[in-house]
This record gives sequence, structure tokens and C-alpha cells, in this order.
Amino acid sequence: MRFLEEIDTRDRADGTARMARLRQIPPETGKFIAMLAASTPSGEYIEIGTSAGYSTLWLALACRMLQRKIKTFEILAKKAVLAQETFRMAGIEDVVDFVHGDALEYLPECKNISFCFLDTEKELYTDCYEAVIPNMIPGGILVADNAINHEATLRPMLDRALEDFRVDAMIVPIGKGELVCRKVGDRAR
Ligand SMILES: C[S@@+](CC[C@H](N)C(=O)[O-])C[C@H]1O[C@@H](n2cnc3c(N)ncnc32)[C@H](O)[C@@H]1O
Repeated sequence: MRFLEEIDTRDRADGTARMARLRQIPPETGKFIAMLAASTPSGEYIEIGTSAGYSTLWLALACRMLQRKIKTFEILAKKAVLAQETFRMAGIEDVVDFVHGDALEYLPECKNISFCFLDTEKELYTDCYEAVIPNMIPGGILVADNAINHEATLRPMLDRALEDFRVDAMIVPIGKGELVCRKVGDRAR
């Protein structure tokens, strides 16, 4: 984790182009999502937006504890290579099911989702949200990053989630702001 934290900090400071940067969550967000992931019912764990695998390392802690696996999606070839190297170096290849491709193509196949970390391009958030929530089990949790630092861009998706009768939702001021949605069971509108 420290190795990736140092690369991300250096690239932010030296003006490395946005798409070349790792664009990782800060450690406090990592701890937060690991704690939430560890408290969900049994089901499928997914992550949308792997980059070099920093957030996956945090989620792997919960997976190890609960003997579960996480499926994580990354579209860029260079990031896919970095992520696979991270998982090999960290010795978590048995816990991580890495998918190199467009998450939106795979999401309809993901059923019984109990945890989802959404951290991809902001214009994809609404489509990802709408694909994940119907396939999430009651008690399952979706966390979406950047709910505060990209609030204006994400406003339609945030409003959709905050008013969605299928979930209880709130924005938590940790890191860059985390939208947390917990799927509820059937209930009257
Ligand atoms: C903000 S970074 C993820 C950072 C990572 N969660 C972390 O904290 O270490 C967003 C990543 O989503 C990837 N991405 C963008 N569109 C995607 C898509 N359609 N499917 C899968 N990954 C995508 C980007 O290439 C980028 O690496």
C-alpha cells in the first residue's frame, strides 16, 4: 500500500497527466470501505475502477477475513498490467478475480451483489448504479467515491440514489466524499 501511496502522491505533485495517474482513494477511504465490506451479508463483491489495485488491497483485507473474493474491473491496458503486478506482489491473487475490460459489459452478469465500490469515470456512475442496484441483495452496500469533490458532476446520480426507495443512502464526509447506499428489502413506497 505504501509503495502505491508514494507513486500517487509523487504523480499528483509533479503534474503527471490525469489519465496516467493512479487516481487512488486516500487511506482513510480505504479503511472505511474495508470496514463496510466486512459487515455485509454473504454475496458477490465487485469493484468498478481498479487502477493499480490500491483500493482492491483494502477490500482484500475484508475478503481474507470472511473467506470471500472480489471481482474488480479495469478498462485500460496499462493499469491492468499494474494491477496484476500489485496483486502478485501482495500475494492476493487467490482473493482477487481481475477483469480487464469495460465493467458496463459485465455488470448484468453480476448477481447477488453484497458489496460494490464504484470509482470510475464520473459520467459512468449513473449507468453503473442502475446496473448494480437491481442485482444487489438486501443488506448489500454500494459505495461511490468522489461524492463531494465531484458533487456538481455527480448531482443527478446522487439525487437519484438519495431519493431511491430501494436503498437507504447518505453522503459521508470521508476522503473525497463517499455516497453510501444500503439495499433495503421489499417495503411499501
Ligand atoms: C479513479 S481510478 C480508480 C482508483 C482505484 N479505485 C483506487 O482507489 O486505487 C478510475 C479507474 O477506472 C477505470 N475505468 C474507466 N472506465 C472504465 C470502465 N468502463 N470499466 C472499467 N474500468 C474503467 C480507469 O481506467 C481508472 O483506472
